[in-house]
Amino acid sequence: MKIGIPRERKPLEGRVALTPAAVRELIADGNEVRVETGAGVKAGFADADFRQSGAIIADSLAEIYACDLVVKVKEPQPEEFPLLRPGLMLFCYLHLAACPDVLAQLLEKRVTAFAFETVTVGGRLPLLAPMSAIAGRIAVQIGMHYLQQPEGGAGLLLGGVMNTPPGKVVVLGAGVAGSHAAIMASALGADVWVLDQSEAALEALHSQHRSINCLRYDERALTMLAPDTDLLIGAVLLPGAEAPRLVSRALLAKLPRGRVVVDIAIDQGGCIEGIRPTDWRAPLYWEDGLGFAAVTNMPGAVPRTSAQALSRAILPHVRFLGTGDWKKDQVFHTALATENGVIRHPALLPA
Ligand SMILES: NC(=O)c1ccc[n+]([C@@H]2O[C@H](COP(=O)([O-])OP(=O)(O)OC[C@H]3O[C@@H](n4cnc5c(N)ncnc54)[C@H](O)[C@@H]3O)[C@@H](O)[C@H]2O)c1
Repeated sequence: MKIGIPRERKPLEGRVALTPAAVRELIADGNEVRVETGAGVKAGFADADFRQSGAIIADSLAEIYACDLVVKVKEPQPEEFPLLRPGLMLFCYLHLAACPDVLAQLLEKRVTAFAFETVTVGGRLPLLAPMSAIAGRIAVQIGMHYLQQPEGGAGLLLGGVMNTPPGKVVVLGAGVAGSHAAIMASALGADVWVLDQSEAALEALHSQHRSINCLRYDERALTMLAPDTDLLIGAVLLPGAEAPRLVSRALLAKLPRGRVVVDIAIDQGGCIEGIRPTDWRAPLYWEDGLGFAAVTNMPGAVPRTSAQALSRAILPHVRFLGTGDWKKDQVFHTALATENGVIRHPALLPA
């Protein structure tokens, strides 16, 4: 099979879907791999590294989209829309519940599109998990940074120091992103509270990290925590579907001013009412005295780490697409978003 790997077009997205080592394995399987020039540079992989692995370096995006299968990181951007075509297989993060324009393109161009984020194995989401782990950790870094006074924040150190109280971090969601955010904030010394509707998720976190306060999600608990919250992180997920709106404007009004809200779930539409997607050019905006960060490609800021983690996670699935019949594979049915002009993932069907 001919497999194409483009350079990502999303603003300041530095990841590349597959590393040179992964490309070598795909070629050993008998595939031809074309990599767009410069695709790996921001992640520390030069064209020469891919060439050494046996890839063909393509000068144009059109050469990549002429392949049977395009493997990339983020959903196609408007520059890529004209290259979508019937018969093309696409494998990447799609987040179609939050990207109706991309969904319309995939349907109109009859692309067979598989979403990394809904690949389900044993009830888990193994292709979302590594990026969620990174996004959770970055959420805390964003919070720490913007809580500093020169950045517009209230001027507090999340972990505090001796004889000063630590900051309070409230995390919505005890899944992968939420747990990583909570563990990192707790390691800094912050007072961390995690809310989730799943007892099992809370128990898994609390059993390993006794210093993290875990609460069953309900609006009253969140309202009680709001007046002391310094950093609020949204990290909930309904796989494939739009994120549940858990935080209203009324609740945000209860947070003290100069505090920061990071909505990791923005790639699925966001769980904070009224929050607007941002990108790494301006990750945070201030409104009504609060800082809002809602970058849809958070791991894109640490492309060296992210590209290696992503490549490792997706490689077995790309190898399968290269050599096997995806129609006979249950896992690929969980990933299938659109096929032949039809929506295939149930979470994307109109209610
Ligand atoms: N912005 C980015 O760059 C980026 C990167 C990676 C992941 N994400 C997003 O982060 C979010 C979390 O991903 P994850 O891998 O941690 O998911 P996960 O499935 O591991 O965890 C999600 C948690 O949300 C909880 N939840 C769902 N609905 C809830 C509700 N109504 N009330 C309370 N809890 C609820 C679930 O019980 C689950 O524990 C997703 O939206 C994902 O797309 C964003």
